[in-house]
Amino acid sequence: MSNADTLKRRSFGETARIDAWWLKPGLVFVGLTAFIAYATWAGMQGKHYFYDGGGAHLLSPFYSPLLYGQAHEPRLFAAELPSWWPSFLPFSAAILILAGPAGMRVTCYYYRGAYYKSFWADPVACGVGEPRKSYWGEHRIPLLLHNAHRYFFYVAGVYVFILFYDGLRALVYVNPDGSHSLGIGVGSIVLLLNACFLAGYTFGCHCHRHLLGGHLRIFAKAPVQHACYQCISMLNRRHMYWAWVSLVWVGFSDLYVRMCAMGVWTDWRIF
Ligand code: FES
Repeated sequence: MSNADTLKRRSFGETARIDAWWLKPGLVFVGLTAFIAYATWAGMQGKHYFYDGGGAHLLSPFYSPLLYGQAHEPRLFAAELPSWWPSFLPFSAAILILAGPAGMRVTCYYYRGAYYKSFWADPVACGVGEPRKSYWGEHRIPLLLHNAHRYFFYVAGVYVFILFYDGLRALVYVNPDGSHSLGIGVGSIVLLLNACFLAGYTFGCHCHRHLLGGHLRIFAKAPVQHACYQCISMLNRRHMYWAWVSLVWVGFSDLYVRMCAMGVWTDWRIF
């Protein structure tokens, strides 16, 4: 009897494993659920995403680039909301931009494996009985849409540069007389780290690796691409860690700006 036959006969959750096989999918379930709940709530608030107290300039990554906002905020269009937005729907600037990063995460090779296991138990873990007997695969819509990952990579890459701009912009303070000076505050460190973590995640993507060298047949003929490929491979080997660190930190970055904007936390300027 093959292994597959043995597994097919097991009922859901039945296994001969004695280790804590449920722990990892359980933690992933809790972590992703918590992030999705917070990001949805924060993205729908439409306020407290920008802090300019003490001459600082902190914009939540959930709202960057800020397309529409209040006049004193770093908005790209001179309006609080688009003229075409249906009046019966609540508006939040985050709604217009979150699809890019969200699409990148949902279609990411790592996250697919993680949420397949933890959210619909397909399979929940190696050697553990599954809840269904048929193979769902990724050859039909909606799972077929995962193939769009390579395009989300380009979108997410642009966001990384925008977030680096936000981090560097946070180093420039507005003085009481209207002049500008360089400085470092906790908020600027938070936003710069956020951009770094997201860069580590985004540029360690399997698509990026393929793009810069994975498609080559003979590395010796393209030494520069080979060097890039090796650099990306270093990030790629830790893709799961980058995925989680960047996820947690982008949520914390929003929380930090939000707490400062609400007056709950103080954005300490170090110098
Ligand atoms: S594989 Fe994870 S971001 Fe592309």
